[in-house]
Amino acid sequence: MNLSCEYVGLKLKNPIVVASSGLTENLKNMKKAEEHGAACVVVKSLFEEEVCRVSPTPRFEIIERRMGKLRSHTFYSFEQASNFDEHRYFEEVRRAINTLSIPVIPSINCISDEGWKKYAKMAEEVGAPAVELNVSCPHGSISFRGGDVEEKILNVARIVRDVVKIPIIVKLPMQLSSPISMASMLERIGVNGVVMFNRLTGLDIDVENERPIMHGGYAGHGGPWSFNCVLRWIAASSPYLNISIAASGGVGSGIDVAKFIYAGADVVEVCSLVYISGYEVIGTLLEELKKFMEKKSYTSLDEFRGKVSGSKILNNEQVDRRHIYVAKIEPKLCTMCDLCRRVCIYDAPYRAEKTYVISDLCDGCGLCVKLCPTKAISLIPRGKTE
Ligand SMILES: Cc1cc2nc3c(=O)[nH]c(=O)nc-3n(C[C@H](O)[C@H](O)[C@H](O)COP(=O)(O)O)c2cc1C
Repeated sequence: MNLSCEYVGLKLKNPIVVASSGLTENLKNMKKAEEHGAACVVVKSLFEEEVCRVSPTPRFEIIERRMGKLRSHTFYSFEQASNFDEHRYFEEVRRAINTLSIPVIPSINCISDEGWKKYAKMAEEVGAPAVELNVSCPHGSISFRGGDVEEKILNVARIVRDVVKIPIIVKLPMQLSSPISMASMLERIGVNGVVMFNRLTGLDIDVENERPIMHGGYAGHGGPWSFNCVLRWIAASSPYLNISIAASGGVGSGIDVAKFIYAGADVVEVCSLVYISGYEVIGTLLEELKKFMEKKSYTSLDEFRGKVSGSKILNNEQVDRRHIYVAKIEPKLCTMCDLCRRVCIYDAPYRAEKTYVISDLCDGCGLCVKLCPTKAISLIPRGKTE
């Protein structure tokens, strides 16, 4: 099984990159990522803004979200920049480059044109194989400051492209008017890759004390829920881009990694999952990916990269709109909990003697099938009674 791939001209042994974060803040942590199978690491971001170099404590929260009986969670955190100043930071990057056998990509986040130039040059001077421009940090980023975000990002890319020859990767925020046109414009400037995306900026309120939770401000807001938005943008943009694409957001399994490849990503940056499960989970991701590929008889990522992207995703005219299904309740499994009746906006389910039954009013929308706690409901072709 060949999991190798190429990212901004670098040959990687597999598509798993440990994303910029505390997981990669020093050589010790980067080593752990390598030992557990990561093919590349992006170092915790170096910020020009010195105040961001000390993160408050506590700085992590797992916020449970409830909607009816369904549960999800947000991994919420205020971990800002690397603790290091620029000299110590690039010293650590140099040590990591010299010690590890996988590519080590520094990440920079600046507030002045001079800062972007200086840090990008320092990255090149220590021998970094590429540099990631963090123009999207959820706390202290370009987008956080408002104004014309798109123009600011393009400006940063132009400035850095002018001063270094190494590959440049721009880590985009999701809040753009068009991520596809932004990535295309970056490609024209000479950027070599984009990361889609950084986390969003979020807020949660401690209602007892009537203040924002944790440190009292906004914070990074991510979690499994972000996966589908990222997947959509990768699938929509990959056919139009000739630069590398790293997917980042909400990966929880090897199947998620495969989905990003289907959408056209070259590599997958993973972060929150490793925070909440430990570095060992990188090995699990790789095993799950391999197992999936075996099942589908794929021997390389190229065989399915981009297979579900661009024009393979139906547009409004192409969608099949026939109403060919109706719901059917299996009497033996129905516990008469009443949920299907309560949620049906077509008033199709009704109570019979020993079970619920679906009437002709059923539209075949499928919601009751997904919500039924005992899986008593399925969709069958309309007109078929058995
Ligand atoms: C605790 C934490 C710290 C992070 N620090 C950085 C950072 O310094 N620079 C950066 O570009 N992204 C940073 N990120 C964003 C991640 O690199 C990643 O893009 C994002 O979390 C989405 O991936 P995930 O859903 O797998 O976590 C951080 C994320 C988390 C959770």
